[in-house]
Amino acid sequence: MKLLVTGGCGFIGTNFILDWLSANKGLVVNLDKLTYAGNINNLESISSNPNYHFVHGDILDRDLVKSLLLTHQPSSIVHFAAETHVDRSIHDPEAFIQTNVVGTQHLLEEARIYWEQLPESSKKSFRFIHVSTDEVYGSLAPNEPPSTETSLYAPNSPYAASKASSDHFARAYFHTYGLPVIITHCSNNFGPWQFPEKLIPLIMLHAKQGISLPIYGDGQQIRNWLYVTDHCEALRIINAKGIPGEVYNIGSRSEMTNLELVELLCGILDKLLPNSTHVPHASLITFVKDRPGHDRRYDLDSTKIYHELGWSPPTNLQERLESTVRWYLESTAWIEEIASGEYREWIEKHYKK
Ligand code: NAD
Ligand code: DAU
Repeated sequence: MKLLVTGGCGFIGTNFILDWLSANKGLVVNLDKLTYAGNINNLESISSNPNYHFVHGDILDRDLVKSLLLTHQPSSIVHFAAETHVDRSIHDPEAFIQTNVVGTQHLLEEARIYWEQLPESSKKSFRFIHVSTDEVYGSLAPNEPPSTETSLYAPNSPYAASKASSDHFARAYFHTYGLPVIITHCSNNFGPWQFPEKLIPLIMLHAKQGISLPIYGDGQQIRNWLYVTDHCEALRIINAKGIPGEVYNIGSRSEMTNLELVELLCGILDKLLPNSTHVPHASLITFVKDRPGHDRRYDLDSTKIYHELGWSPPTNLQERLESTVRWYLESTAWIEEIASGEYREWIEKHYKK
């Protein structure tokens, strides 16, 4: 089986490719623009693997996508490439529209042209996996049941609106042209190689240096945390057994407030770094101005993927958080490389106001 992965140098894409190649033999072509969030060195360990092929390019470049599809003849496209940070989408939504909406449509269109000329048996087994987010369902009230695959869309941030729009194009390409598209929605991922603009790696970097840990608003917003490798496993199962035209939610059972999460991380840091001068790390917690339009609560109902495809989220959040904390403590070279240049400018622009 050959795969075209987009955005494979980002957080989830990196974990997905490593996970995939450890279990499968076929070629993986990774098309990535290497924006600030993409890091080619994440996949250094497989750079000489004959089953891995990196292409530096943009999903908006239709000629490039066309030639990659014709040259490599993938049996699936797993589409991760996106602008992904909600706060950046509030500062400047344009890139979100370009990559997430227009880029996804370009990719779908080239996939359709390629798929239509495949022999019947390859046409039947071809899959386009569109990786989307719980944020498209909008914010839940405290006692509202978790969002299901049939919940109404109510995106609240420019990021969520761009992902919702791309979902609608993905859905339309199945209904109009029959392209075997599957849409997935997952909750907040955590794990290695996440760019430190996102909450967990940001807390790691700041706590290690004794810098304040910014909590937006009252910190009572609720998120559902999913270990990235568990997400990748669900995507592998969806690629193998998922039904074209269907939507699958991939959530976890670990709802907690942002404040609870950060306190938990601080407790793990205190345990792993008992001699640090920053113990107790929770004393670094600082409440800062809230994110505009900040969604209060997300929760996903993952019953469908459990009943239909046999995947269920693991329950050992504490263990997975601890191994993630260890990874960030140990990966000093990766962090030093990431936490320079553009990253510093972002922190300056976003938090110093
Ligand atoms: P990320 O920001 O870490 O990585 C995005 C990757 O896409 C980067 O490597 C970047 O260089 C690449 N990219 C951006 N624009 C591109 C373009 N025009 N052409 C080619 N490559 C481009 O993102 P992530 O957290 O790994 O998220 C991956 C996908 O999963 C996204 O579609 C996101 O919406 C979705 N998702 C993420 C989460 C999460 O918690 N991280 C949760 C739900 C859904
Ligand atoms: O829910 C899935 C989404 O999760 C994905 O679709 C997005 O691509 C991904 O970025 C993530 O979005 P969030 O906005 O939930 O992630 P982030 O890590 O930015 O924030 C998590 C929560 O923590 C959110 O409620 C905002 C809050 N937060 C975040 C930062 C960066 C803080 O309180 N302080 C911060 O400094």
